[in-house]
Amino acid sequence: MNTAPIDPARIPRHVAVIMDGNGRWAQAKGLPRHKGHEAGAESVRAVMESCRDLGIKYLTLYAFSVENWVRPKDEIKGLMQLLKTYLEERAFELHENKVRLRVMGRMSDLPKAVQIGLNRVIKATADYTESELILALSYGGRAELTDAVREIARKVEKGDLKARKIDEATVASHLYLPDVPDPDLMIRTSGEMRISNFLLWQLSYAEIYVTNTMWPDFRKDHFRAAVEDYSKRNRRFGDISAEEQT
Ligand code: IPE
Ligand code: IPE
Ligand code: MG
Repeated sequence: MNTAPIDPARIPRHVAVIMDGNGRWAQAKGLPRHKGHEAGAESVRAVMESCRDLGIKYLTLYAFSVENWVRPKDEIKGLMQLLKTYLEERAFELHENKVRLRVMGRMSDLPKAVQIGLNRVIKATADYTESELILALSYGGRAELTDAVREIARKVEKGDLKARKIDEATVASHLYLPDVPDPDLMIRTSGEMRISNFLLWQLSYAEIYVTNTMWPDFRKDHFRAAVEDYSKRNRRFGDISAEEQT
């Protein structure tokens, strides 16, 4: 493993992850899909620790999409149970590391018991300012933008906002977590080259890293490799590269 230090000035502030491949991981081992989701919970812990060690403030994990509701009822039930258990048994890790838990998505779609568990931990960690773990749950980028448009339209209708005053900042401020900076790096495991309705607005200028590693196998070394790769990217934001400007 390469352990050369990563330039601290090139550490991302926000990393977003599409945790994919749990089912295929289990299938390849002849196990039920649920075993893949269980093993994936360990990867969550490893990645959270890596963020702490590398000084990454925001970590967003795509845990359940609005589209995932079409999956077999048993799988959804298992995932919700896993989330509930995590909130009950692992919340202490958030406290130990002073991590604030937040959720983005249509939380009201989730089973009541999960909502209660989430709200309890969200409240208990609300004062931590060092780092944030954001769970995208019943999340969809189009749903988020649709919710934002509806709220903006409501303000225009009420006369509180002029249509001609709507700019990018207006849209950004009506997203689920407007205070969170856009992700610098987006990682997707399991080799799929797609966004799957994740953070459509916020990923506009994110660096994308896709690895063939399945999420349950994705641990600290893999995460570090992704951050190291990111640290060597040349982000231009539409400009020409800095070297060419001299
Ligand atoms: C990611 O793994 C977890 C969720 C989407 C909830 P998958 O369950 O999508 O696993 P694959 O992609 O079928 O292997
Ligand atoms: C994306 O994975 C959603 C999550 C990781 C929660 P999916 O497995 O649902 O994505 P598709 O269906 O392969 O695009
Ligand atoms: Mg998948």
